[in-house]
Amino acid sequence: MTGQPLPGFRDFFPEDHSTLRSLFSAWREASRRSGFVEFEGPELEALELYTEKSGEEIIGQLYHFKDKGDREVALRPELTPTLARMVAARHRNYRKPIKWFSIPRLFRYERPQRGRHREHYQWNCDIVGEKGAAADAELIATLCLGLSLLGLGPKDVVVKVSDRGWWDLFLADQGVKEEKRAEVLRILDKLEGAPTEEWKKKLGALAEPIGNALDSKIALSEGLEQVRQAVGALGYADWCEVDLRIVRGLAYYTGIVFEVHDRAGKLRAVAGGGRYDHLLKKLGGEDLPATGFGMGDAVLSELLTEKKFLRAESTPPAIFVVAESAERNLALQIAGNLRRNGEAVDYDPGSGKWVKQLELAEARGARWALLVGREAAQGKLLVKELATRKQGEIAFRKSADGAISLEPGVGDWAKVVAS
Ligand code: HAM
Repeated sequence: MTGQPLPGFRDFFPEDHSTLRSLFSAWREASRRSGFVEFEGPELEALELYTEKSGEEIIGQLYHFKDKGDREVALRPELTPTLARMVAARHRNYRKPIKWFSIPRLFRYERPQRGRHREHYQWNCDIVGEKGAAADAELIATLCLGLSLLGLGPKDVVVKVSDRGWWDLFLADQGVKEEKRAEVLRILDKLEGAPTEEWKKKLGALAEPIGNALDSKIALSEGLEQVRQAVGALGYADWCEVDLRIVRGLAYYTGIVFEVHDRAGKLRAVAGGGRYDHLLKKLGGEDLPATGFGMGDAVLSELLTEKKFLRAESTPPAIFVVAESAERNLALQIAGNLRRNGEAVDYDPGSGKWVKQLELAEARGARWALLVGREAAQGKLLVKELATRKQGEIAFRKSADGAISLEPGVGDWAKVVAS
């Protein structure tokens, strides 16, 4: 045993988990404000859900095995096939368009590197049942809102929008057969960062027309123009750019696609998504159009750390009860009562001395220490504000049923210590 997790896996110690939670809060809040409802699926799925639908890159990265019932299964590398499976099974129960979000933990056997792990959390928002570009724009606006709640803006990130449908027509025009197009798109997906000579060789006769298409300021496709307008009306025009080099690695995309990148272009994509209009039908469901995105926690955390925007969402107890040994039982009763009344309360479960208990109260980050000492015999307690070291006296009363009331209540302790 090395004390280390497996390569590419992460331990989230409480301080790391508190920063992760701040991402989750922003993601949930942006989803809530934009009308998405939360769902969850299983971590383990039938292997074939991915082998047929996800595209070669993800298939090569699957964690898969035979379970004890001899089924070929895989840990989910992405959520989209699960979402499509679930919607296909029950879509009649839901009013269209369906707007769902989720924050799954996903598993891909990738080479661990900066911003790339073998597990990651991914915020997913998807809209099913709307074929118009307004749905793609809604997703782009939602992800921009999520990023802005974390402090990021159009100076930090850019949403690169493209149209895989446009590429399909372009390649058809160039005489590329349908079954060959996915391969060309895969080369295009890896264009960024690849040496020019290398991709020119890979693309062969297509290198020139594709190079020209990328260089020229071609008129936007109708879909891109509609997305541009709706995203602008929702207030995020300056976050977006058309960039036809974005085609996305996953096999199921059919139309508008987009990726979020840091403006400096130093990191991998923060998020990616697009329209996948045929996936539900392929999974045996109705022919429902769909579009969505996934935003990972890893690259985003890198970017937020770099910008010094990464916050911790800590939840220290408000009150730490400190007791003399003779008053321990009363202290437990008070703590229990306060908790039942909605306060976050902690205490030292050991038999530590008064000073040690106070030290622990500070280490835990509590605002108040509630001191249960000798004065308890006269129905009195002391409250101490740990940051200011100011203290004051309060009263307590015990009713016949054992309930304890404090006079004044916690909300007024600031006045008690100020007087
Ligand atoms: P994806 O581009 O494969 O799309 O992943 C989306 C984001 O997840 C990436 O931009 C990246 O931030 C993060 N990500 C992916 N793999 C890793 C990894 N190994 N380590 C850390 N972060 C990673 C999808 O997964 C689509 N299913 C998204 C989608 C939802 N499309 C429609 N709906």
